[in-house]
Amino acid sequence: MFFKNLIDEIDSMMARDPAARSRLDVVFSYPGFHAMIFYRLTHRLWRWRLLFLGRLVSQIGRWLTGIEIHPGAEIGRRLFIDHGMGVVVGETSILGDDVTLYQGVTLGGTSLAAVKRHPTLEDGVVVGAGAQVLGPVTIGAGARIGANAVVLKDVPGGVTMVGIPARVVQPRAKQMDSVTDKEFCAYGTPSADLPDPVARAIDGLCDQVTSIQAQVKDLEQRLEEAERGAEAPEQPVEERADAAGPKN
Ligand SMILES: CC(C)(COP(=O)(O)OP(=O)(O)OC[C@H]1O[C@@H](n2cnc3c(N)ncnc32)[C@H](O)[C@@H]1OP(=O)(O)O)[C@@H](O)C(=O)NCCC(=O)NCCS
Repeated sequence: MFFKNLIDEIDSMMARDPAARSRLDVVFSYPGFHAMIFYRLTHRLWRWRLLFLGRLVSQIGRWLTGIEIHPGAEIGRRLFIDHGMGVVVGETSILGDDVTLYQGVTLGGTSLAAVKRHPTLEDGVVVGAGAQVLGPVTIGAGARIGANAVVLKDVPGGVTMVGIPARVVQPRAKQMDSVTDKEFCAYGTPSADLPDPVARAIDGLCDQVTSIQAQVKDLEQRLEEAERGAEAPEQPVEERADAAGPKN
């Protein structure tokens, strides 16, 4: 079981990094993989209440990998931290399955109170290089956070957020709405041949707006005609007879 999970994790990292050429590559050269081994160990120590030992081993892991994951964080399966240097995952962070973090990402707190103060990332979230996700916010499944973005509020699933403070943008190409490795978009950038649910939804809305505009125009015309009919003064009988011209 342990080895099956390990192979699963390695394969998922390969699926998300076109530069990974073999499992050996991942095992020996991927700090994100090493950091996860340290985390699995330190998290166990933490749960056994060996808090100091957990922090100590975690610190050694940080020296070796440049990635700081607090032993208290809750992390699902197949987390991939690509490159890794400078990544910080805070104590009360919760990460679902198939999450991807690039170098320099902070999942940080904004409060000094010892409560849930770090982000929750649902399944399949991708966080770009240097992005900061701060506070007990929730990033919905499949959402993508752009490089260097600063996220301070909850993010709905499937959307793309960029900038400081982060705002939703429509991808120029296609959007990732899946959370599986098969459909993972390397670097959060989808290829043009994936289905784009957002574009499809917008197309549908545009069609509806066009149809509603046509209906409104038709109604306006009918109303105008009806008003014109109502406004036309009733002609007296003699005038009508005059207007008809002289009788022979
Ligand atoms: C956010 C991201 C996922 C969006 O990718 P995408 O779906 O292909 O989006 P697009 O390139 O079509 O960009 C959509 C809009 O967002 C803007 N945008 C994209 N990424 C941005 C970023 N990081 N910061 C600010 N704006 C960004 C684009 O300029 C575009 O705006 P426009 O329509 O006004 O021109 C991607 O740009 C990104 O930052 N990925 C992280 C990659 C990374 O960290 N790689 C590290 C590898 S080592």
